[in-house]
Amino acid sequence: MDPWRNPYSPGAGCRPPHLAGRQAHCEALARSLERSLLGREVKSQFVLGQEGTGKTVLLAEYGRLALEKGLYHEHIDLREESGLVEALVAAVRRLLLAMAARRRGSEPIKRALEHLQSFSQPRSPRRSPELAPAGSSPEGPEVANDLAALWIELGEACRQHATGALLTIDELHLAPRRSLETLLVALEEGSRARLPVMVAAAAVASPAALAGGRARRQERFDFAATGPLESAEARRALTEPAAAAGVSWEEAALERAVELSGGFAYFLQALGHEAWNAAPAGTRISGIDLEESLAAARAAVEDHFFSKRATRASAAEELYLRAMAELAPTPLRSVAVAQALGRRATAVAPVRDSLIRKALCYAPRWGEIDFALPFFDLYLRGSLWLPETEKI
Ligand SMILES: Nc1ncnc2c1ncn2[C@@H]1O[C@H](COP(=O)(O)OP(=O)(O)O)[C@@H](O)[C@H]1O
Ligand SMILES: [Mg+2]
Repeated sequence: MDPWRNPYSPGAGCRPPHLAGRQAHCEALARSLERSLLGREVKSQFVLGQEGTGKTVLLAEYGRLALEKGLYHEHIDLREESGLVEALVAAVRRLLLAMAARRRGSEPIKRALEHLQSFSQPRSPRRSPELAPAGSSPEGPEVANDLAALWIELGEACRQHATGALLTIDELHLAPRRSLETLLVALEEGSRARLPVMVAAAAVASPAALAGGRARRQERFDFAATGPLESAEARRALTEPAAAAGVSWEEAALERAVELSGGFAYFLQALGHEAWNAAPAGTRISGIDLEESLAAARAAVEDHFFSKRATRASAAEELYLRAMAELAPTPLRSVAVAQALGRRATAVAPVRDSLIRKALCYAPRWGEIDFALPFFDLYLRGSLWLPETEKI
């Protein structure tokens, strides 16, 4: 079929299937936004799931929902090198400027913008890398208080103008612990003050890890999991983009593709994409097309999903990952991985921690470890999507 019109290409614009199975999440967020405008206490939300499970597209949908409801929306895409606090201050500035453009001369907006100026000036000496211990960020409790005050001022400005704001943050797991604490404190204060400002942030992490292991704090936030899609939703994710182009899937092909994908959104897209390319123009996608396309699908996910992330691992980290792959299925007890490596748990803990910092692993529970990427074990063992004939 026409590869240029491949409906499974990233950005092909198939909005509904991309949100297959996420209706409940969207509805919950829409309700929170409405409640926040009514001055009720609302919780910020963390979207948690492994890589390729649809966190980013869900955040984009949340942003769209906020705008649709007349709220302001800003987005932060966190990178390894970017500081969370700086990014937050910049995003609050953008929100305030957008509000100011429509409400000239507003006192609360002016006040918040002034506060913001004082915020971004000092502290540069404390940011120098030699003063900051490795893996931590240099900000202390006063920055947390400052950010909380700024967040509240933003909320007050919104309330006085009968509007609200949603800030979406992607890849939050890349933020150092102390920056994350700073953010959590600000959000807790904003929520206690019943202000119409919310954050929805995506991360590969467990609720407990995000909340710093504090159960009481965990209750102050909402958590939305993006696991693998249920079978019916996974089928929709494959059939709907093709149907929009007048193409159908043969039942056997559909079943096999859903099974191979494990329900993971990214893999469904990749399998759909290559099966489409393998099918003759204008026909339905058959089981034979799918089998023929597996090698290409495998190469595509290896290149675009796995290897670019796997190269972040040092030699010691790679050994750890391989030990995990040998012991799979995951999650595993960290102690078991250490044992397999013939080392004490405390000796390999730094490797484990740096794998988490590099977003290659995460801790689903205390003392446990899992891959941040689904099927990473199959990738490492070279056994992902082997055609039936190549299986041993
Ligand atoms: N609910 C869904 N249904 C179908 N496809 C989806 C869904 N969520 C995401 N996708 C597709 O899966 C891929 C990965 O989604 P993405 O949001 O980037 O995942 P993550 O941010 O968790 O890594 C994208 O190509 C996206 O279009
Ligand atoms: Mg993402």
